[in-house]
Amino acid sequence: MKTILIMNGPNLSQLGKRDPKHYGSGTLADLENACINKGIELGVKVQCFQSESESAIIRKLHSSMGVIDGIVLNAGAYTHYSIAIRDAIELIKIPVIEVHLSDIHNRESFRNTSVIEAVCAEQVCGMGVKGYLVAMEKLVEKYISIDSDAAEALVSDNDPLFEERAALNEIDKELFVLFERRMKHVDRIARIKAWKGLPTKIPSREAEILERVGQSVEEQYSEAAKALMQEILRLSRDRQQEINKGM
Ligand code: DQA
Repeated sequence: MKTILIMNGPNLSQLGKRDPKHYGSGTLADLENACINKGIELGVKVQCFQSESESAIIRKLHSSMGVIDGIVLNAGAYTHYSIAIRDAIELIKIPVIEVHLSDIHNRESFRNTSVIEAVCAEQVCGMGVKGYLVAMEKLVEKYISIDSDAAEALVSDNDPLFEERAALNEIDKELFVLFERRMKHVDRIARIKAWKGLPTKIPSREAEILERVGQSVEEQYSEAAKALMQEILRLSRDRQQEINKGM
């Protein structure tokens, strides 16, 4: 299972006491719980870390290498001047999404610049706690490849996916019963053609079949259906050749 690290920098431990206009009224624990729940929904493990200290943040970034798959980072005020944190993000080669509860671009001018922006995959700001959840979604959708076994383990018996898959299995069964039926006719046709001395491939007949197939499905599937049919025709030709050889 992949792991996302939620990192908060200085003064974010004091959420709930900070200006609610910018930071809302929830605490850091509320924020971290929301991220943990989002992790369950996304099928990823969530680790949370907060520190007031630049060196602890840098050390945590270093030790994330090989252990963490994506990071959501609110570096707090360090965002605006810590070249050391910028360098650490650059070197760890882990996708980092920069988040801010407030909209740093519409506040005091000293908050408008982020020195970490250029080394982060994306920046999300001004969305409050929701911004952390959006950043997690982005990490999973664009930057982390979720291993399919772990995702699969989340599909339970009462999942709608489960029912849909059962329906597909039935359809596939029918599809291949039809395929077998077609191949039986191919066998008979091959024998008749051999007896009449006709060639295996009759291009005008194949063109006619492809056109009919293209018209029998909705336009969006027309090309795909034709490609499938071409493959079936190829199999039919191979089968006819085998029969010819054996005769
Ligand atoms: C912040 C914005 C920073 O400018 C500020 O120093 C913070 C929090 C935010 O989440 O909006 O501490 O990163």
